[in-house]
Amino acid sequence: MDVFEAIRTTRAMRRLDPSREVSDEDIRTIVEAATKAGSAGNRQPARWLVVRDAAKRRQLGELYRECVESLLREDQDRTKTDPAIARRLKSTWHLARHLGEAPVLILVCAPGQPYASIFVGVQNLMLAARALRLGTTLTTSHLCNEQKVKALLGIPDDVNTFGLIPVGYPLGRWGDAPRRPVEELAYRDEWGRELR
Ligand SMILES: Cc1cc2nc3c(=O)[nH]c(=O)nc-3n(C[C@H](O)[C@H](O)[C@H](O)COP(=O)(O)O)c2cc1C
Repeated sequence: MDVFEAIRTTRAMRRLDPSREVSDEDIRTIVEAATKAGSAGNRQPARWLVVRDAAKRRQLGELYRECVESLLREDQDRTKTDPAIARRLKSTWHLARHLGEAPVLILVCAPGQPYASIFVGVQNLMLAARALRLGTTLTTSHLCNEQKVKALLGIPDDVNTFGLIPVGYPLGRWGDAPRRPVEELAYRDEWGRELR
């Protein structure tokens, strides 16, 4: 797949087919793509913990759902007035209820807080998954239960978790991600001046 098509159409795919297996080879391919990303000083701090075990996925799903429930409770009122928020929250709730059924969960970890050195790898992983027709969503909502997630997976005390990425074949269709036009988001030579 053309890299620009992959960039345009990589978006949060929250409805995944729990019954369609994802091969070990494809998982290795996308994780390897993640490991090819640059990092500050080429220190490569990120670690990619691939969870296939069904019982562990189910427990991670529970921990994730608990966090989303407490995070989203206050958003419920806003959905009554904004249909775009309502649509997003519907799919967010769907993922919250079904995350543990995704064929694969990938937990992004690293010692310390090297955020900038981690998320380039995350984007590589998601683009590589898109090229293989695998859906992903970068999620961070597990963090309210981070200690329990770490205990479940034997993650050392000095290692933090930054994202939990469900991977599977999407139930819905691929399409361009809705994004504001570049003219609204980029400038030329000085703040606010049109890029052209
Ligand atoms: C840093 C970060 C954290 C995110 N955390 C969550 C999350 O916890 N749960 C979730 O369902 N989506 C999460 N997302 C996905 C965003 O909601 C999604 O990228 C955004 O709504 C755009 O959706 P789209 O790509 O389908 O257009 C996160 C995205 C980013 C970049």
